[in-house]
Amino acid sequence: MLFPDYRPRRLRQNEQFRRMIRETKLSVDDLILPLFAISGKNVKNPISSMPGHYQMSVNNIIKEATRAKDLGIPAIMLFGIPDKKDPLGAQAHAKNGIVQRTVKELKNKAPDVAVITDVCLCQYTDHGHCGIVRDGAIDNDTSLEILAKTALSHAQAGADMVAPSDMMDGRVAEIRETLDENGFSGVPIMSYAAKYCSAFYGPFRQAAESSPKFGDRRTYQMDPANSQEAIREVTMDVEEGADIIMVKPALPYLDIIAQVREEIDLPIAAYNVSGEYSMIKAAEKMGWLDGKRAMMEMLISIKRAGADMILTYFAIEAAEELG
Ligand code: PBG
Repeated sequence: MLFPDYRPRRLRQNEQFRRMIRETKLSVDDLILPLFAISGKNVKNPISSMPGHYQMSVNNIIKEATRAKDLGIPAIMLFGIPDKKDPLGAQAHAKNGIVQRTVKELKNKAPDVAVITDVCLCQYTDHGHCGIVRDGAIDNDTSLEILAKTALSHAQAGADMVAPSDMMDGRVAEIRETLDENGFSGVPIMSYAAKYCSAFYGPFRQAAESSPKFGDRRTYQMDPANSQEAIREVTMDVEEGADIIMVKPALPYLDIIAQVREEIDLPIAAYNVSGEYSMIKAAEKMGWLDGKRAMMEMLISIKRAGADMILTYFAIEAAEELG
């Protein structure tokens, strides 16, 4: 395979040939759209750090979910912004909480879009941590019960899948057991298995009003320098009963996606997080790059690394592009 016998450019000379030898394809089936639910009627608060995204009351969530479905997007990931916060995150598992109410309505009015719910406490606790605080530290084992209760309340409201993002040890097993004991053995768990402590969550924390009030998330989210540990985390979650495992963020962790793909025989999701979205939006606004092309290139890179599905704020735009 040496020049001049082999000339790679022969198969790049027209779009037909390029299509024929394209190795990775992005499909609308791969996309999951994150949405932010808030109380009220007809609310659509723009999230300034994430142009095109809003905190929405249920009627607008239904509109957006329906739009996603009409474009062929199979699922949404739902986050809630509660009316009140407290030390134990009681609204996370309240029967009439924001996620529970929104899921019920969604399953009534837009049954054809799968609803995955984010299971975490950071939006619901007044300290903004993903677990329960005891003596100034995040207490793993007391958090588990509350997380499991939260997942159960989502399933009872009609969630099609639950997605724990808290990074407490042992939460997948606890959630699986609680769901099974209560008649929800059919509800799958998408576990945020290798979730790194990342600056790229910045815009999301504004969107979800979930910044920690003291310290940071380093005692539970992973150190960006580690990859073997990601395999240990993922393996644990598989053994605890996860159905889909997630790597998050996506772009700075493509190597992790590829390694997990090698090791694990389960569907892999990658979360193309808020900062990855906002970066492109900002650069596009400055006229520094072609936003649409950068979006498609980024999404295909995540697929090429080995992800089966991508949670992305670009879901609608990408689906339109794939049209
Ligand atoms: C909650 C959660 C976070 C994200 C998803 N679920 C933020 C965090 O851990 O602070 C980030 C998503 C994004 O940045 O798009 N635990």
